[in-house]
Amino acid sequence: MTGMLKEAEDFIRSYYNEIGRSELEIHSRLLEIERQIKKNGSYEQTIDEITYGAKAAWRNSNKCIGRLFWQSLNVFDKRYMQTEEEIYQALLEHIQFATNEGRIRPTITVFSPHDVRIWNHQLIRYAGYKTEKGIIGDPDSIAFTKVCQDLGWKGNNEHFDILPLVIQTKNNQPKLFEIPKEYILEVPIRHQELKWFEELNVKWYAVPIISSMKLEIGGITYPAAPFNGWYMGTEIGARNLADDNRYNMVPIIAENMGLNTKSNASLWKDRALVELNAAVLFSFKEDGVSIVDHHTAAQQFKRFEEKEGEAGRDVTGNWTWLIPPLSPGTTHIFHKPYNNEKKTPNYFYQPSPY
Ligand code: ARG
Repeated sequence: MTGMLKEAEDFIRSYYNEIGRSELEIHSRLLEIERQIKKNGSYEQTIDEITYGAKAAWRNSNKCIGRLFWQSLNVFDKRYMQTEEEIYQALLEHIQFATNEGRIRPTITVFSPHDVRIWNHQLIRYAGYKTEKGIIGDPDSIAFTKVCQDLGWKGNNEHFDILPLVIQTKNNQPKLFEIPKEYILEVPIRHQELKWFEELNVKWYAVPIISSMKLEIGGITYPAAPFNGWYMGTEIGARNLADDNRYNMVPIIAENMGLNTKSNASLWKDRALVELNAAVLFSFKEDGVSIVDHHTAAQQFKRFEEKEGEAGRDVTGNWTWLIPPLSPGTTHIFHKPYNNEKKTPNYFYQPSPY
């Protein structure tokens, strides 16, 4: 039995069993799959298989604290999109549907398993530039920004330039597409009490749409399958805007708060971080953009663990990712171990195309 057939069988069995289909139905679907693999070296999944597979892949994502909502994933089947232009239109549709004017909808768009690759790490992300005067923008995007520039893109050399979409089909040179402004929802960060906060001129985009990972279902790999949920506040407030190798806002916030930054024991970093995170949550909420704080997310994850238990499945997890970077010990996750075994279907890292 080929590797693919074995994977397909494991997948079809657990899928069909989960939705209560008979052994006869399993058998007949497997015969069809076997026939296709013998003839073509691969098989075509049904929309139902892809829809269930993408949801199960979320359920199996060990690093994700937001898995309670796995069943609500919206799945778009765009496997028949061929040209870069078609794929670009499908990505714009994804952005618009997922953004939904702030009421964010968890969404995945699945492209052909062959010959499509999106070079972006996320569909919406800020550029980063290395200049003589230091780094401008998101340091995490420096390499990719350079790639875009080498492909002919011109950024504004500002802190929050939205990168273009970079789409490759077959072995062709990738094509660049700008995302029209009206598709991109952003939230200016301000603070409920600290009025100077908005003068820091910091903002973040509403929807994190991971586009660099591959989706694996039943022995089939989808290298282009961008997916999104909504943000947990700490991703922005305790990492993207805070890490000293990212936007590094903690020292300037502490300065503005009048904290003693000469003494570690003044806890200036911790106090500044808390206000930055409060500002992120306040701003998203005031603008009506979906976001979850880490305490609520941990409670939701607890519900997920309970529901999985009830369904007779064990929950796998990566503790180092599941604990929030702010006050981890206030969540139940901190106080127990997780089994980091990788089940399929799942989302996996894949080699960068550049
Ligand atoms: N941590 C990444 C970021 O800050 C996003 C990862 C996915 N996050 C999510 N809430 N679905 O951009």
